[in-house]
Amino acid sequence: MIDKTTKTARTSSKKGKKFYITTAIDYVNARPHIGHAYEKTLADAIARWHRLIGDKVWYLTGTDENAQKNALVAKEKGIPVAKFVKDNSNIFEDLCKKLGISNDDFIRTTEQRHVKKVQEIFKEIFDNGDIYKGKYEGLYCTGCEAFVTEKDLVDGKCLEHNREPLKMSEDAYFFKLSKYQAQIQKIIRDGLIIPKEKGNEILSRLEGEDLRDLCVSRTNLEWGIDSPIDKRFKIYVWIDALSNYITALENKEDEFWPADVHVVGKGINWFHTVIWPAILLSAGYKLPKNVLVHGYLTLGGQKMSKSLGNVIDPFDLLKKYNKDSVRYSLLKCSVFEDSDYSEEILINRNNNELADKLGNLVSRISTLAERDGLEKCDNKLLTKLKLSEIEEFMQGFEIDKALGLIFGFVDRINEFVQSKKPWETHDKKVLYQAVDSVKAVAILLSSFIPETCDKIAKTFGFEIKYSNLAKGLVYKNIKKSEILFKKIESAEKNELKEEKIKGGKEKLNKAPEGIISMADIIKYDDFAKLDLRVGTIKKIEDVEGADKLLKLEVDVGKEKRTILAGIKKFYSKEELKGKQIIVICNLEPRKLKGQVSEGMLLAAVNGDESSVVLLSPEKKIDSGSKVQ
Ligand code: MSP
Repeated sequence: MIDKTTKTARTSSKKGKKFYITTAIDYVNARPHIGHAYEKTLADAIARWHRLIGDKVWYLTGTDENAQKNALVAKEKGIPVAKFVKDNSNIFEDLCKKLGISNDDFIRTTEQRHVKKVQEIFKEIFDNGDIYKGKYEGLYCTGCEAFVTEKDLVDGKCLEHNREPLKMSEDAYFFKLSKYQAQIQKIIRDGLIIPKEKGNEILSRLEGEDLRDLCVSRTNLEWGIDSPIDKRFKIYVWIDALSNYITALENKEDEFWPADVHVVGKGINWFHTVIWPAILLSAGYKLPKNVLVHGYLTLGGQKMSKSLGNVIDPFDLLKKYNKDSVRYSLLKCSVFEDSDYSEEILINRNNNELADKLGNLVSRISTLAERDGLEKCDNKLLTKLKLSEIEEFMQGFEIDKALGLIFGFVDRINEFVQSKKPWETHDKKVLYQAVDSVKAVAILLSSFIPETCDKIAKTFGFEIKYSNLAKGLVYKNIKKSEILFKKIESAEKNELKEEKIKGGKEKLNKAPEGIISMADIIKYDDFAKLDLRVGTIKKIEDVEGADKLLKLEVDVGKEKRTILAGIKKFYSKEELKGKQIIVICNLEPRKLKGQVSEGMLLAAVNGDESSVVLLSPEKKIDSGSKVQ
């Protein structure tokens, strides 16, 4: 059923490969911000995808704790450094849990497994003759934790952290970075860096200057890992931090090294694609296959960062909103470019895509499937799923584009359901195709919004397995789904609503109590969704076994509707014949006493329901006229 290109794409992907993925490890000088949440979620979607297609995945994330900047903030706060970094590291780990990150390990660089192995790697480089003693005279940016030159500064300040570097003059050890320049250029040309443009940036820097050797020690520091070759020195924190990708593996090193992809932000591209390969070449390790360099999340076009103080706290969002809404809103951001992000963007993506497109579709077809059941057939709708393109995007880490294509298919399913009107036709084959297509969507989306996809799978009774994607399954005992995504009021609208409630409450103070519940205020847009029309009652019949109901045939313009209404006690058949009433035409059909009612009519009901009066247009008007 799925097109041939798709089949080729699946069978050509080698099953059961190992796949080792890492994120950068975060400094713990402050709480995590949304940029950290983005990187972890991005890597998580990739890791989950590879598990889904059958790879053996190892996903590592963690915290970079030996940096001088962590120690500086701890001192400022008067907290022992070890306690400070541990407490903050716990917050990063907690973020992973709250975001539903499926990491297999979480490394802290103060752990013994890390410290011991870093010293071994440093010693290996030294023993290979690539570390020599000298004197460092120059600048150091504690923001970047990097030795910088005047060339890296604008108006004397580091652009990344908007601060002046420290002047340093100290005895030091140097690593022969220059020795590896040609090899590094080659591996970058061979495609180490994704996307290509980010590779070209590094290449043009390398082609324009000869690499200088790198200072790899710091002196006069109390915090950091001791150098194994000279105890007066600490190991430069980037050598320590980068090594985490190997130190964390312990006895899994043979199985998982080299990394298949390091996921990092654009600001630390150089460290991962120049310094890290040189260390590995010197110490005799294989090189990572890819470094995925993602763009930054910006706020109003400005870089978001702890040092600039304009950050969005992911915990605030996770407290207010569904985890999958946060994840989806992040994963929709462009992987390769910078993307503006805000709470408003999250709300729009939740409302317009998750709630309106996916949530509504699942709710609609599960309700109809519960009512009418399904009839298995060839699912022609699946030919509209661009699976081979989705797989290609995922393989190339363009996951925002893959997500776009999956939601394109959700649009196709919605169009199909809308045009086939199974709520009128009761066509079980149409419903089957819709459900079977939603199954494919849930399997594909399970890497992005896993909790929601588990709920969808439970509703329709299938297993999230890649091999189920193109297979027509049998779906039984379907029950109406819970609401997957609630619509969120925007912050701006919330303020307006507050005002309205305040104004409303003031008015209410003067009205008799208990007439209107302000909690039930709805948005204009919600009201406008009602399709209210004038209908003319053509036929009236009793309903067997029902003493309150009448079955009406109502002309609503282009069509006649059957409506079951509980008005038998209040109107005679003669009074009703030819009467014009107001009908809600776009309500989901309902079954009453074994008969389907295709709408509702408006009536005024008094307090004890002893009186019911139908609403009627004041003058005669065409059937089907809109009420607005
Ligand atoms: N500790 C180093 C990384 C060492 S990796 C061996 C570091 N830490 S960090 O906390 O500053 O950043 C962690 C990750 O978050 C980096 O990949 C960084 O690029 C990323 N981001 C920081 N700000 C970001 C945004 N505003 N948007 C997206 N990612 C961002 O660098």
